[in-house]
Amino acid sequence: MRTHFCGLVDEALIGQAVTLCGWVDTVRLQSHVAFIDLRDHEGIVQLVVERESAEAFAQAAGIGYEYCLRVTGDVRARIQANDKLRSGKVEVLATRIDVLNKAENLPFALHENPSEETRLKYRYLDLRQPAMQRRMRLRTRLVSALRHWLDARGFQDIETPILTKATPEGARDYLVPSRVHAGEFFALPQSPQLFKQLLMMAGFDRYYQIARCFRDEDLRADRQPEFTQLDMEFAFVEERDVQDAVEAMIRHVFREVADVALDDPFPRMTYAEAMRRYGSDKPDLRIALELVDIAEHVRQVEFKVFSDPANDPAGRVAALRVPGGAAFSRKQIDDLGAHAAKYGAKGLAWMRVDDPAKGRDGIHSPVAKFLDDGALAAVLAATAAGAGDLVLFGAGPYKTVCDVLGALRLKVAADLGLVENTWRPLWVVDFPMFEYDAEAQRFVALHHPFTAPKIDDVADLTANAANAVSRGYDMVLNGNEIGGGSIRIHRTDMQSAVFELLGIGADEAKAKFGFLLEALRFGAPPHGGIAFGIDRIAALMAGTDSIRDVIAFPKTASAQCLLTAAPSPIPAAQLRELHVQVVEAAKD
Ligand code: AMO
Ligand code: AMP
Repeated sequence: MRTHFCGLVDEALIGQAVTLCGWVDTVRLQSHVAFIDLRDHEGIVQLVVERESAEAFAQAAGIGYEYCLRVTGDVRARIQANDKLRSGKVEVLATRIDVLNKAENLPFALHENPSEETRLKYRYLDLRQPAMQRRMRLRTRLVSALRHWLDARGFQDIETPILTKATPEGARDYLVPSRVHAGEFFALPQSPQLFKQLLMMAGFDRYYQIARCFRDEDLRADRQPEFTQLDMEFAFVEERDVQDAVEAMIRHVFREVADVALDDPFPRMTYAEAMRRYGSDKPDLRIALELVDIAEHVRQVEFKVFSDPANDPAGRVAALRVPGGAAFSRKQIDDLGAHAAKYGAKGLAWMRVDDPAKGRDGIHSPVAKFLDDGALAAVLAATAAGAGDLVLFGAGPYKTVCDVLGALRLKVAADLGLVENTWRPLWVVDFPMFEYDAEAQRFVALHHPFTAPKIDDVADLTANAANAVSRGYDMVLNGNEIGGGSIRIHRTDMQSAVFELLGIGADEAKAKFGFLLEALRFGAPPHGGIAFGIDRIAALMAGTDSIRDVIAFPKTASAQCLLTAAPSPIPAAQLRELHVQVVEAAKD
């Protein structure tokens, strides 16, 4: 149908006849000549239709935006070059135009910034935009570079089931009712975790899969209900074997696909240090600001908001210095308070520093009156606050204070332009094995229940569960968790003990994970692995904040597909066949 792609027509073709296919990006009609920008997946080329080509000119007069055309013409040099286009030095003098398909008036103009809702509803039009085409192509290159690297190193690409049993990764399951087994359900995998472990027990040694995962959880810019992992597993390995291998892989694909040289080696930081310094287990190291502990300076003060957590081993009192933050208006400070509240803060104490040398007279703060001179001076010194700075305070349970100040750190850095334009990867290691869920009154796994503890002895682990450290690790890039993995438990006794600590009794463990416990009994090798979020890596490479921009057909923040209007009701007969009865949704 065509001889060349629009976006690739260049000077080398001057004097040649070409036939192109594509969409009408713009049309400008003048009395003797028409200009059409024709667009395909490679880019745009300018067509010129002169009145002398009577038939083509008449055709040009009738076409509109996004018409689908086939055009034949001769390539010639352009008088006024357009440096922005690869084809900008040439144009095509069209001699024949075939309208392959008309386009009705579009629901939105591609060049205007349509709302996300409109974009998702008409995603096939949104995807025609060059920026979206570029992002999807970048994603293709990323996956291809990963595969290439893995294939060259003997990893086997093995598919695992989509209709399966629940794999806990901390989210709710998407369930699929079985027609042939009344009242029974498949779960869509939250990850291929257990199957990849079984593949190691099956002797495959090195596995990977570009795997779709399904998680029914609260969505954000970096989370979709279905997303794609590069899932990997290795037999006979320890942490460093996995980490060193995949770190080299990530460096390779960033160089190859995005022309970015990442640090070699990546720095490593323990979970405890990351929380203490950055209030996050995925610290964005592009931001220089750090949290400062001030509990020791406020233990004796009368202000209970500070002194109570300062004297509580499970509490934290910390400060964040915001350089130049004294210029914030009251409204801006109130906005920070509202942001803090989203992360569980009961309030946001602050201190504006006009002249630190003047002590109490040089600052402005609603909490200054609660602090004696000594405490005030010690806090000022600890934060190293200077004239023009704002200091924000967090006081309360350790994790809450980390979450609050960690979130404020990101917000003020973004607001004040304090995020360095660079790439800062790191490994976060030494995660706690368990987190105590006060509501449910039991431990939950910080990674997943198959992650091995550093303690190798079952009795030791059980005795020290609250402080146990796991063999899990996360790869973090610019404040995004792009990958997470661990060395796994490969012994039945340890796996049973961990289930027990997580409140999964023997009967429940047998019902849910009996196959795993059994498989561990037949010579399971030590093994470990990791999974990377392909969507997140692609979004980072593409320089976009939302993974929706690198997924062809993503879902909205409320987990709907606006294009197909899914999810949707199912006819009663089909539900009957599936032995499913819908109960009236509870009204809040
Ligand atoms: P984890 O749950 O940490 O580990 O997931 C691995 C990586 O997948 C990405 N990711 C997501 N991306 C988009 N939307 C989501 N909802 C979403 N959830 C996770 C993140 C994350 O780092 N089975 C383990 C891996 C292992 O232990 O080997 C697992 O799934 O980038
Ligand atoms: P209150 O005594 O509750 O009026 O609080 C006095 C000041 O401390 C106010 O500026 C509050 O915003 C702030 N504040 C209250 N609780 C906290 C907290 N947990 N962490 C930091 N600041 C707080």
